[in-house]
This record gives sequence, structure tokens and C-alpha cells, in this order.
Amino acid sequence: EVSWKLPDHPKLPKGKTVAVVVLDGWGEAVPNLYNCIHVAQTPAMDALRLTAPEKWRLIRAHGTAVGLPTDDDMGNSEVGHNALGAGRIYAQGAKLVDLALASGKIYEGEGFKYIKECFESGTLHLIGLLSDGGVHSRIDQLQLLLKGASEHGAKRIRLHILTDGRDVLDGSSVGFVETLENELSKLREKGVDAQIASGGGRMYVTMDRYENDWGVVKRGWDAQVLGESQHKFKSAIEAIKKLREEPNANDQFLPPFVIVDENGKAVGPIVDGDAVVTFNFRADRMVMIAKALEYGDFDKFDRVRFPKIHYAGMLQYDGELKLPSHYLVSPPEIERTSGEYLVHNGVRTFACSETVKFGHVTFFWNGNRSGYFNPEMEEYVEIPSDSGISFNVKPKMKAEEIAEKARDAILSGKFHQVRVNLPNGDMVGHTGDIQATVGACEAADAAVKVILDAVEQVGGIFVVTADHGNAEDMVKRNKKGDPLLDKGGNLQILTSHTLQPVPIAIGGPGLAPGVRFRKDVPDGGLANVAATVMNFHGYEAPTDYEPTLIEVVDN
Ligand code: 3PG
Ligand code: CO
Repeated sequence: EVSWKLPDHPKLPKGKTVAVVVLDGWGEAVPNLYNCIHVAQTPAMDALRLTAPEKWRLIRAHGTAVGLPTDDDMGNSEVGHNALGAGRIYAQGAKLVDLALASGKIYEGEGFKYIKECFESGTLHLIGLLSDGGVHSRIDQLQLLLKGASEHGAKRIRLHILTDGRDVLDGSSVGFVETLENELSKLREKGVDAQIASGGGRMYVTMDRYENDWGVVKRGWDAQVLGESQHKFKSAIEAIKKLREEPNANDQFLPPFVIVDENGKAVGPIVDGDAVVTFNFRADRMVMIAKALEYGDFDKFDRVRFPKIHYAGMLQYDGELKLPSHYLVSPPEIERTSGEYLVHNGVRTFACSETVKFGHVTFFWNGNRSGYFNPEMEEYVEIPSDSGISFNVKPKMKAEEIAEKARDAILSGKFHQVRVNLPNGDMVGHTGDIQATVGACEAADAAVKVILDAVEQVGGIFVVTADHGNAEDMVKRNKKGDPLLDKGGNLQILTSHTLQPVPIAIGGPGLAPGVRFRKDVPDGGLANVAATVMNFHGYEAPTDYEPTLIEVVDN
């Protein structure tokens, strides 16, 4: 039995309005031309650092500080928001899959056994993101899984690949496909009929999230399940090279393609009796395809054919929906998150972002759990994102609308916690458009100002932080930190996140005098934020939470 009652904080009062602002993709890095946050005019964020340095600091947002396998792993929104909301560091999907593959336990679990039932007469299909980004998936895990599945009896394997260019350099898809083809030819030498059957760019095919655009999932379905596409090729390498020649083509947005045999027939549609594994470990961009593959009752698009398959996710992607019902590796058991504690202690919460990040401040924040803990105590507002555009054409996104909703929620007096995610630095940073990313940072900063003004009016407290870096560095660098050029002498644009720390700033008229950052948690990271926020609501965090970042000195 969990005891939900939190101890009172000995010095800090209850009932204050606390705004928690997460700037997505906003890290701290040396100022230079490719640091869009530095280049941008960001008066609100600058003021936080300059006017109250004892209430501004950096925290770790990547690697082991957020439960990733190593400190070479950049941060990302899933693990970042998990840590912010849960207040503890959990071994995350990437690591859990590594362990399950290394020990071989993955092949002993219920999920793999379920998949294996199809190996005698059916095909094993593997669908997922093909890169070494380590955010949603990793190619070395796929290689191990391919090897293991064939050793455990898979005789016919088809790959449905999604090219990246977002967590890794654009153009790197070709190299990853070569690596995969190499692996598949080794399997063929061993008598396994293994080949790539379809593909497409992750942002255009399959990997939508939070139901922003079902058309993305449908495009993938048509190629993967139905074996249909206007783009037919003999090999994936040829497909990618050709499709990348189109104007403005890039790995993220490649159109869907299918691989066909000499008679023009798709080599690997998904049919009755087959097994399917989605090999991404990260949840957000797998939930929609998981629904399409699993739900008998489904009306988001016309599936044309709904094959009777055995489907498993690499992980279970949604703990509340229990989706998918079969999975190869158990997800981190993130429980007793700060959100759940707070509703039990009378703290009323409002959370808001636009569609593309809505699940970040709700689903990820709450430990990969959709829905409310207690609808009486919480209100989550989703502002519809523009769909079908690349955000560099509209770098302001919905920052203003998010800020206005937050302002209204703060001024309403109905909520103790008002939590938002401002997506701009991240979503525009991922496009690799430097100029647009500068505009994105300015839009996010303007939104911060609106929210801080509202906090000021109600005598509240603010916590402004970020989930990981992105916009603060837009070029690939060598070990010494110098920008890298490609063979043609062009700058290598960094579309991905970074390893940088992120700022956290606290303040507002409601912050008790004497509150300042402690000096004895120099390695503090995102997981230390939950206890800090609980303090601002007048509570001490549970003892197993990472320690608070603040102290209250008598003055
Ligand atoms: C994405 O899914 O858009 C990227 O791979 C990671 O971005 P996020 O972690 O900021 O969502
Ligand atoms: Co991102």
C-alpha cells in the first residue's frame, strides 16, 4: 500500500501557484554563430540568469543522469520528461533492451514466444527506425534481434525500415541500410530468407505521434501491410539514393517505397499468419501504429485488409492502455510520479502544450501513462498543431496560444500547478534550419514572458527549465569542438539533440525569501526537479526521490 500523504515542508507554505515551464530542446552551450539561443533575442531568459544568479543554474539532461546506457547518449524528451515528472532515474528502454539482448532473456519472455508461434509457416516482420540515434531505437539492437530470431527459428524475415536524419545526420540513412543489407546477406548465407520489404522517412511514414496526422501511419500501412506504393524499387539502397535526388528530399521525409521482385510483386506484405515486431523502444511514435496493428475496432483510416497476425512491441508503449498487449521487454516501471502524489495531496494541476508535444507534459510526465490520475484535480489542454508542415516555415508554432492558455489558467486561481511545454527550440531545431531556429527561440522566449507576467500578477512561483539540448548547437563538431564539413565542403548541420546541460531558473513573488539553489548537488539533473517543485507546493518529496535542488536560508 502506497502512502500518498506527503510530509509538510518545514519552511515553505502551501497554496502558491507554481508555473512549471519546459522549454523543449533548450540547452546551454558556448555562444557562437550556431548557437541559435545565443543568436536569438531572448530578453526573458536572459533576465532570469542575469538578475538572480543564485536562482539560476545548469542541470544534467543526458546519459546516465536520465537513465540512458552511457554518457555518450544525448538527452531526449521521453527520458527527460520521465525524469522531470518521476523525480527518480529509471533504467530506460534503450538500456533495458540492451540487457535483455545481452542476457538472452528477451527470447525467453512471453512476447517472443508469442511471436515465435508464427515462425513455422509465417514471416517475421520487423518495423522500426533504422539508425544509431538511440532515441527511439538502435541499429545494433536490431542486428542482435535479427540474429537471435533466426537462431530461434525464424526462416523468413522482412524488414520495414524508417529512415532517420533527425536523431542522426541527414544522409546517414544510406550507410545504415548498407549495414543492414550486410547483416541480411549473412542471414541468407545461413539459409534464412531475409530482406528489406519497404521503407520511408520517419516524419512522413509511420512515426507520427499523439494523433497529429493519421495520414502518416496510413502511408506506412499501405507500404508495409498492403505492399503498395507508387515508388517501387529492386533494393532499398537504390530506393533511398533515387528518392533523395528529388528537390528538398531528406531522410526524415522520404516518401514510402516498396521493394518488388523481378515480376514487380511486393516482396513482403504482411499477411495472415505472420508475426510483426515494432522494434523501437520509445513509445510516443509507436502508439499509433500499435493501435492500427492491434485493434480490431479501428476507424482512424481504412486499413483495407486487417491481417491476423501475432504482434509484439519491443516494449509495451502505453501502460494505461496496455498497448500493445504483447511485448519483448518489460518497460521501466515508473510509478509514484510527482503528478500522482500531488493530486493525492490536494494540488490542482493544469497542463498544456500543442499536439506534437502534448504527450510530453502529460503522458511522459506521468510515467508513460495516458489519461488523468483524478479528473477532478487535473485539466490537460491540447492545442492542435499545424499538421503536414515542416516547422521551419512556422517557427512560432503555437507558443503564443500555449502561453495564453497558461496565463489564463494562472489568473483563474483554479490551479496550483500550471505546467507547459514550449516546443519551438526542439521542433524547429530538428529541421536543421538555423535561421528559423533563431526565430523559434525568440517565440519561446516571448511565451516565457507572458507566463512569468501572469505569475507576477498572482504572487506565484515559477520554475523554468528544459528537457534536453537542441537549438543551442546546430552543427556537427569534432572532438575539439570545431564545426565539421562534409566532402563537398558544406557545414554538417546537426538536426539532433545534444549532450549539453540545460538551465533551470526559479523565482516569482511567491518564492519565500531565503530560497536559493543548494551548492551540494553539483551533479543535479532533471530528476532533481520533481522534489524541488514539490517543495514549492509546500511539501517534502518522498525519501526515494532525487534530492531537491533548493534550500531555505534564514535571512
Ligand atoms: C523525435 O521523436 O521528434 C525525435 O526523435 C526526438 O525528439 P524529442 O525527444 O524532443 O521528442
Ligand atoms: Co527533439
